[in-house]
Amino acid sequence: MLQFFVVFMLFISVPPVACSGAANGSSTLTEGQELSGADRLVSKNGKFALGFFTSGSSKSSSDNTTLPNWYLGIWFNNIPKFTHVWIANREKPITGPNFRLSKLRISRDGNLVILNHATRSIIWSSQIIVVNGRRTGNKKTYVMAALSDNGNLVIRDASNTSVVQWQSFDHPTDVFLPGAKVGRNKVTGQKYSLVSKKNQINPAPGLYCVELDPTGGRQYFGKLCNSSIVYFSTGEWNGRYFNLVPESSSTNFFHIQFIENDEEEYFTYTPSDPTL
Ligand SMILES: *[C@@H]1O[C@H](CO)[C@@H](O)[C@H](O)[C@H]1NC(C)=O
Ligand SMILES: *[C@@H]1O[C@H](CO)[C@@H](O)[C@H](O)[C@H]1NC(C)=O
Ligand SMILES: *[C@@H]1O[C@H](CO)[C@@H](O)[C@H](O)[C@H]1NC(C)=O
Ligand SMILES: *[C@@H]1O[C@H](CO)[C@@H](O)[C@H](O)[C@H]1NC(C)=O
Repeated sequence: MLQFFVVFMLFISVPPVACSGAANGSSTLTEGQELSGADRLVSKNGKFALGFFTSGSSKSSSDNTTLPNWYLGIWFNNIPKFTHVWIANREKPITGPNFRLSKLRISRDGNLVILNHATRSIIWSSQIIVVNGRRTGNKKTYVMAALSDNGNLVIRDASNTSVVQWQSFDHPTDVFLPGAKVGRNKVTGQKYSLVSKKNQINPAPGLYCVELDPTGGRQYFGKLCNSSIVYFSTGEWNGRYFNLVPESSSTNFFHIQFIENDEEEYFTYTPSDPTL
């Protein structure tokens, strides 16, 4: 009888996967699950983690108290020095104790959102663009988010995981990871560019951008973000190296590629040694 009871207790205390619950330690977040506090998603290879972290602080406007700023981001999981590679809400930190009430989850419309439970407000959303009413029809498409081994956070259709709805590699912050893109989406006009951070502790967008030559050249420009002032250019990519940066052909370390198709054009790279 006791044995039966223990088994029964175990059974009811382990929620079924589809139920609301934590995704802590997993590489995926499904609808109904949420991530908060010190919870994190960890890529299957253990290299990357996604979760909330704090950097810098803001002054409260009402009483001058200093409150820590919280961000949702991805960082290297196995390097001792904390180094983030992507931030969701770099422009809108969560301040102070509100952080405890904030959760990452998949909203009813299939977007990944950071929600403040106290105020019921959305702090950040993946803002998946609805194409041909795909996400507005009566039939709901279930999605899931997964942190890939290369540090890309990907939202896919749960019923067909080859359908990618959104990925962090299309929205880089200031770090260009192998496999990520710097370029543009020709259909939506969206730029995949790198934007520096304000300073070492404030990851808000800074002044400097690296983007694909907007006039169509196959080269990178380093420029002041909101102006046409270019302060460096790599020169055209000739298939092996950038003309003004001959050392970029050092394929001992990296393999650079320019990809162009009907939808996108971008540079990407992979390390020559895949264990890097
Ligand atoms: C989530 O996992 C981390 C690391 O494994 C652990 O330190 C933390 O306590 C866990 N959080 C919860 C709420 O279980
Ligand atoms: C906050 O600090 C400023 C400047 O230090 C001061 O002028 C202001 O009175 C302070 N406000 C409060 C509510 O303490
Ligand atoms: C999954 O999506 C891909 C890409 O859109 C499509 O080619 C494939 O046929 C789909 N598979 C199923 C089983 O629907
Ligand atoms: C650049 O422009 C965008 C929108 O046009 C604005 O949100 C951003 O703050 C500007 N950045 C700088 C560094 O001025």
